[in-house]
Amino acid sequence: MNLIPTMNSNELVADISEILISSEEIDERIRSMGAEISADYANQRPLFVGVLKGVLFFMADLLRSITIDVEVDFMAVSSYSSETRDQGLVRLVKDLETPIAGRHVIFVEDVVDTGLTLNYLLRNLTTRDPVSLEVCTLFNKPKHRLIDIPIKYKGFDLPDQFVVGYGLDHRERYRNLPFIGILQEDAVYSS
Ligand code: IMP
Ligand code: MG
Repeated sequence: MNLIPTMNSNELVADISEILISSEEIDERIRSMGAEISADYANQRPLFVGVLKGVLFFMADLLRSITIDVEVDFMAVSSYSSETRDQGLVRLVKDLETPIAGRHVIFVEDVVDTGLTLNYLLRNLTTRDPVSLEVCTLFNKPKHRLIDIPIKYKGFDLPDQFVVGYGLDHRERYRNLPFIGILQEDAVYSS
């Protein structure tokens, strides 16, 4: 059963000026990423680590496209002020429940933008001695990158534009849109 509401019954669609990536394109890309990861990690039971909340939809769909034994865990970080963000500082509000020493870890992200948050979290996880630590992101914004981060699995490059949908929010809204779209200007400034 397809639970995704049709476009014209979705009240959020009125706030979108352009659809950049359709839900069908997202599904297809995730299926092929899942196949690639399943082949690379056969018999290794990797631990998938995600940062709440944006990764929610990607993690759920990616894991269902994976055909090997896996585990999953989540972290949460506080939203940062613009000053601390520039220094790449984030506060861990929820840590992993799983020890990662000796594990193969796949760090799953919704979008890598400046790379500052991810860099901080990867350094933190590296100190815990995983056997391997790779990054898998659905969306990548190369134009904004401030720190070079090796990305092993990448879904799509995005233009240098603010987008919403498929987990990505504007002030906590629009995460549940099944596609990636650009917000109408008046929706950006309304609450
Ligand atoms: P950075 O890589 O440290 O700059 O942080 C990436 C985070 O910024 C993501 O996890 C998102 O929460 C947020 N972000 C970056 N670009 C967008 C966007 O276009 N829409 C919504 N959130 C975004
Ligand atoms: Mg956000």
